[in-house]
Amino acid sequence: MTRLKLTLSAALMCLNLGPVRAADPMPAKAAVCTACHGATGNPVIPGVPALAGQTDRYMYLQLRDFQEGRRASDQMVPMVKDLSRDDMRAVSTWFAAQKSQPQPFQPDSAKARLGKAKADETLCTMCHLGGFSGQNEVPRVAGQPFDYVVKQLRDFKARARTNDAGSMTSVSATLSDTDIDNLGHYLAGL
Ligand code: HEC
Ligand code: HEC
Repeated sequence: MTRLKLTLSAALMCLNLGPVRAADPMPAKAAVCTACHGATGNPVIPGVPALAGQTDRYMYLQLRDFQEGRRASDQMVPMVKDLSRDDMRAVSTWFAAQKSQPQPFQPDSAKARLGKAKADETLCTMCHLGGFSGQNEVPRVAGQPFDYVVKQLRDFKARARTNDAGSMTSVSATLSDTDIDNLGHYLAGL
């Protein structure tokens, strides 16, 4: 069994179909992204989400949504204009394989506690999984910058972001501004 697995993975490596690793070379189309999202997808600019460790499926869908006008962003829309589907897959796979690093943000521990209680009560991890680590179409939110999380939750609530097939629109409708602030402290610190 183990030998079969080893033989298979060796064969995949020869065919260059093995999983993308952090050390694999960056696709050329990802170079421009690093200006905002950081050299390894760990952002250095306020308001920019982390891509390192995000699920590749989710990122691919977001890039398609920006290109097809389902998600608005003055910064992102021009970035995806000339990307093909294959480019989107390549950059998503590469960023997904990068290691997520903690943000330089000090969460307020009392607010983070209240945020965790709200997350438990709202069953967020039914979709986002334990620790908000994400899977497939459901994004990882753990460690996203505070200001980014708050903006997304406000955007869902105000229906300024509607590319979520309804799940986040209904969840965010139950959250007050204070809840959103508390959730931001909790999630940014994960
Ligand atoms: C000028 C700065 C800038 C550049 C360059 C840039 N981005 Fe972004 N990106 C942003 C901002 C800001 C957002 C958040 C938009 C919002 O508030 O909804 C974002 C959002 C995203 C998202 C959605 C993430 C999520 O968690 O929902 C993905 C995926 C993404 N960018 C990928 C890329 C890729 C791939 C490139 C290069 C082709 C790129 N970005 C270039 C600023 C930038
Ligand atoms: C029914 C499933 C479901 C539940 C419950 C849920 N989410 Fe989500 N969430 C999603 C999906 C799916 C997306 C991605 C939407 C898209 O494709 O644009 C998302 C997106 C998000 C985003 C934006 C992430 C990004 O990178 O832009 C945040 C933040 C978020 N959820 C936080 C929460 C919080 C906090 C809770 C609980 C209060 C919660 N979610 C409950 C399914 C869910």
